[in-house]
Amino acid sequence: MKRTNRTAVLAVALAATTGLALLGAPRAGGAAAARGYYTAAQATAGAKAYAQSCAQCHGAQLQGVSAPALKGVSMHGSQSIADIYNFMSQQMPAGAPGSLKPGTYAAIMAYILKQNGHPAGSTALTAQSVKKITEKI
Ligand code: HEC
Repeated sequence: MKRTNRTAVLAVALAATTGLALLGAPRAGGAAAARGYYTAAQATAGAKAYAQSCAQCHGAQLQGVSAPALKGVSMHGSQSIADIYNFMSQQMPAGAPGSLKPGTYAAIMAYILKQNGHPAGSTALTAQSVKKITEKI
């Protein structure tokens, strides 16, 4: 960046604030879908955690094996992103429910969002921010 660090920090803070304001705003009939719920780095970390803790049942491609698919039509339109996060952070992985750290669940959620066509943005998904996302996956 050519600008001063201070300007860059302010720009990032402004972007984060704007992102939160968008998340908190009521959705107007699905117009202008909110973008960038997570960062690209988070989705990469989430892919690793998913491979370790989820893939044996849900499939390496999220296609479903002994457990439902986590991508595609079966997921779309049925539950909000917040509901899916709440379910998986309390009930998954089956056999050791709630055993992962909140940041790990958030990263896995970022990976699932990516796999379902949601774009990355500049603000990381957190256990707090995800609970405000009423958009369906
Ligand atoms: C030992 C097998 C197993 C593992 C490991 C596992 N799951 Fe599941 N998962 C299931 C089963 C079985 C269901 C269906 C449960 C039900 O319908 O009550 C399920 C359901 C889900 C659902 C709801 C899907 C839907 O269509 O509503 C989500 C989301 C989910 N799992 C995420 C995860 C994540 C994220 C991980 C890794 C942290 C994980 N699961 C690990 C077996 C597993």
